[in-house]
Amino acid sequence: MSRSVYVINGPNLNLLGQREPHIYGHRTLADVEAECRRVAAQFKLQIEFHQSNAEHQLIDWIQEARERAAAIVINAAALSHTSVGIHDALAACAIPVIEVHISNIHKREAFRHHSHVSSVASGVIVGCGTQGYQLALQRIATLLDTPAT
Ligand code: DQA
Repeated sequence: MSRSVYVINGPNLNLLGQREPHIYGHRTLADVEAECRRVAAQFKLQIEFHQSNAEHQLIDWIQEARERAAAIVINAAALSHTSVGIHDALAACAIPVIEVHISNIHKREAFRHHSHVSSVASGVIVGCGTQGYQLALQRIATLLDTPAT
């Protein structure tokens, strides 16, 4: 069975480490990818790590993951709050989806409190910094390794 996990990052996450470090921290997206690969190896998961600023590209990767992957970790960033297209693409997936936000979106501006991703996610991790990605992979390993009852 596939143990491939798509880790999909949305707009402006390419600027991690430079962008508002008091909110998002000092780690770069390359650091996050390296951490994901390290944790994935522990759980015998394979990572497909992606970032785009374009909504259609995120939707294409979700559709690709739907066919090829065992699970999705997604931080759709600002598009979480606006994109029905990303919601619909995830709703079409039968595989586990874990939503990650580095910051605690519920402690921030009201326009960040609702995510169109959350209602189609198996789990949501917010406010744990970039460690949230590692927690998401750990959760996916548990879901993949626990026989369905
Ligand atoms: C974010 C939170 C979003 O509100 C914001 O637009 C982002 C990053 C986070 O990881 O905390 O770009 O998804």
